[in-house]
Amino acid sequence: MQKFIVTGGVPLHGDVRVAGAKNAVLKMMAAAALTDEPCLLRNVPRISDVMIMRETMADIGFNVRRVDGDAVEITAVDADWLFVPLEAAMKMRSSFILLGPLLTRFGRVIISNPGGDRIGRRPVDLHVEAMTRLGAEVEYKNGYYFASAPRGLRGARIEFPYVTVMGTENALLAAVRASGTTVIDNAAREPEVDDLIVMLRAMGARIERTAPHRLEIEGVERLSGAEHRVIGDRLEAGTFAIAAAATGGEIRIHGVRPADLGAFLEVLKRMCVPFEEELGADGPVLRVGSASSYRPIDLETRPYPGFATDLQAPTAVLMTQAEGESTIHETIYEDRLDYTTELCKMGAIIEVVDERRARVAGPTPLRGREVEIADLRAGATLVLAALAAQETSVISGVEHVDRGYEQIESKLVALGAQIHRIDA
Ligand code: EPU
Repeated sequence: MQKFIVTGGVPLHGDVRVAGAKNAVLKMMAAAALTDEPCLLRNVPRISDVMIMRETMADIGFNVRRVDGDAVEITAVDADWLFVPLEAAMKMRSSFILLGPLLTRFGRVIISNPGGDRIGRRPVDLHVEAMTRLGAEVEYKNGYYFASAPRGLRGARIEFPYVTVMGTENALLAAVRASGTTVIDNAAREPEVDDLIVMLRAMGARIERTAPHRLEIEGVERLSGAEHRVIGDRLEAGTFAIAAAATGGEIRIHGVRPADLGAFLEVLKRMCVPFEEELGADGPVLRVGSASSYRPIDLETRPYPGFATDLQAPTAVLMTQAEGESTIHETIYEDRLDYTTELCKMGAIIEVVDERRARVAGPTPLRGREVEIADLRAGATLVLAALAAQETSVISGVEHVDRGYEQIESKLVALGAQIHRIDA
């Protein structure tokens, strides 16, 4: 087990480059299973979720290898077995994204329920329902979905009752090789979904977004290999933006499209955090600074183009520094306020009203403490709080941060932070 030791109170200054988007690359790796030709992905982040996806796909029998630096090549000539075990699902919920591609290409798959036998929070019922709409037979036994489509999948109309990112992606990855036309209504429109569509089109898929939340797919018999560069991680960019504001510094963030951060930048503006877009030598740069005081806000998470649930917890750190009470309404998940307990240990004053609502008082000085990370975004949040705090914090559970942030401590050290990792 590893820990971060962080001595806060240092304003962060300088340039940082975000890695490729975790929530895009994992689905693109799965997309490579749709063809027997090699797919080359560039700007692939070095994070543990990518490692887990690599191992899971290698176990199926695909050839997955890192080539020069930030590229990964995947060749899925044939599968040794069409099985995604519980072990993969326990390590990473997004292993379930292999359902659509394996089913549509090979006609069957046995895949573990990422919640194990526990039906409850973060279910996958909408993914399974979408496969059934496309003509698959799906049986659930002992924690596994047994899905088959011996005569292939056929196009259908799928309407999600609410927006689901991976549900949309699984349906899309299945429909691209189904026979006939599929229409997906209430489809997610996160930038990562659109980037996946760019890759699938390069592979020969026929996909149109005919309305903001509608996708129309004309199935094709085969897809070819493709080369694709993954978009920059807007969630990592948002994390560094808050690091600048919360420590009283200024950071220039490279590698992200500022347009993907629309609702987040709107919140920064309302809180009076100064920022500016510049044109750098290799694309847009987002410069985020700090102010002597911030305004409180009422924040509500929404599917894209609304405010991303993944940036809700990090933004709460900034709320603790605002002049007055802010409110949080988490509309996507019912368990995304758990981090508040650890944040309160550091001096934050947060009243959790119910499992989706909280009130954050400000401004309150944050103090260095021993805290424990429970999940990825909570991890980023505690690191941000420790950077803004006056003393030294000891943060355990850093493996959660490694799931989605590439070398976070090296990037922070380059910006002047006092953070290091120890083996505990
Ligand atoms: N839902 C269902 N049934 C389903 C699928 C989803 O009830 O079959 C519910 C979920 O429980 C949730 C809501 O629908 O309440 C939306 O969940 P969604 O399916 O959109 O989430 P996801 O696709 O599983 C992705 C990201 C998450 C991100 C959410 C929301 C990946 C790998 N994960 O999850 O990212 O929070 O979309 O934008 O793309 C993270 O990066 O830390 C992370 C958790």
